[in-house]
Amino acid sequence: EKGGYEHFMIKEIHEQPKAIKDTMTSRIIPDSDEIKLDDIKLTSDDIKNIDKIFIVACGTAYHAGIVGKYVIEKLARIPVEVDIASEFRYRDPIINERTLMIVVSQSGETADTLAALREAKKSGARVIAVTNVVGSSAAREADDIFYTWAGPEIAVASTKAYTTQLISMYIIGLYLARLNGNMSVEEYRTIRDEMIQLPEKVEKLLEEKEELQKFADRNHMHKDMFYLGRGLDNAVALEGALKLKEISYIHAEAYAAGELKHGPIALIDDGIPVIALATQGELFEKMVSNIKEVVTRGAKVIAFALEGNTDIEKVAEQVVYLPKTISLLTPILSVVPLQLLSYYVAVTRGCDVDKPRNLAKSVTVE
Ligand code: M6R
Repeated sequence: EKGGYEHFMIKEIHEQPKAIKDTMTSRIIPDSDEIKLDDIKLTSDDIKNIDKIFIVACGTAYHAGIVGKYVIEKLARIPVEVDIASEFRYRDPIINERTLMIVVSQSGETADTLAALREAKKSGARVIAVTNVVGSSAAREADDIFYTWAGPEIAVASTKAYTTQLISMYIIGLYLARLNGNMSVEEYRTIRDEMIQLPEKVEKLLEEKEELQKFADRNHMHKDMFYLGRGLDNAVALEGALKLKEISYIHAEAYAAGELKHGPIALIDDGIPVIALATQGELFEKMVSNIKEVVTRGAKVIAFALEGNTDIEKVAEQVVYLPKTISLLTPILSVVPLQLLSYYVAVTRGCDVDKPRNLAKSVTVE
């Protein structure tokens, strides 16, 4: 059932091109300007009435929500707040009939996420559930549904569910933007055409394992690692660090690179591995300076950048290049080598990758 792979996690990492394609097909159609969302019944008038969006989730799904905030605000110009479900439900958030809530849950059964959904509905919000399980509680209780078609995810560490959740955020963002008049058809076509190329680009990335294995061989005995990024790279850094913590039990911290000087740089000392993401065109130079800052203090940096940005080699010890795409879509690509990196580190350490200690696949208690 592992299809020749040693673990479910690595099998599921490799299933991502298909999962992404399955989640896009029928919704984003080549040469068509229409976005088809069969289970979302929001009309153009409904969307114009929305003055605030909450994205609420736990764990990896919450990290997809952070990307979602960035994407939806950029495309549809509607303010978005992202909340951890167990915080949202106890903090008396401001919700009314003009609120749209998007809950994100692979299982659709996470107790805190469901409680947040119910809380929002009680206050009159419209709720979209993004979930991977047909007929799950989240799907049944929400007003609208976006199914991620990742297929069953067995490994405790979420991989293909995350990338398909990212796809859901892009598609919902595009849908809202088109219907509320914030995006021209030309802009839509540019993003659509780039999205359609993603599965192939992920496929290509999956072939490049050498640098990541080398990183694992060199660094698996370290106790701490840092993840740095700016903008969307920061959101992906959070997910990368969570993957490493979960399956390798190494302490990992993700920081917005601009925050370094405000405290965490004090922790950088000789030999500490730093994983730096530098995929955001307009922030590239800033990241290069941040990498220099940590290298000067002894950090060993592995950097992730888009093909062609070879300046990064002047500062980082190792570089992994990602196929080029628009800045908005890089999370789909950059997370893949981070998943592989955690996997190789955990395997090199001899950890039980599919069933990490203390963790359950679905957290149905509060
Ligand atoms: O089923 P859900 O998406 O609601 O689960 C949320 C989290 O429990 C889940 O993403 C968890 O963080 C994973 N173990 C991450 O790999």
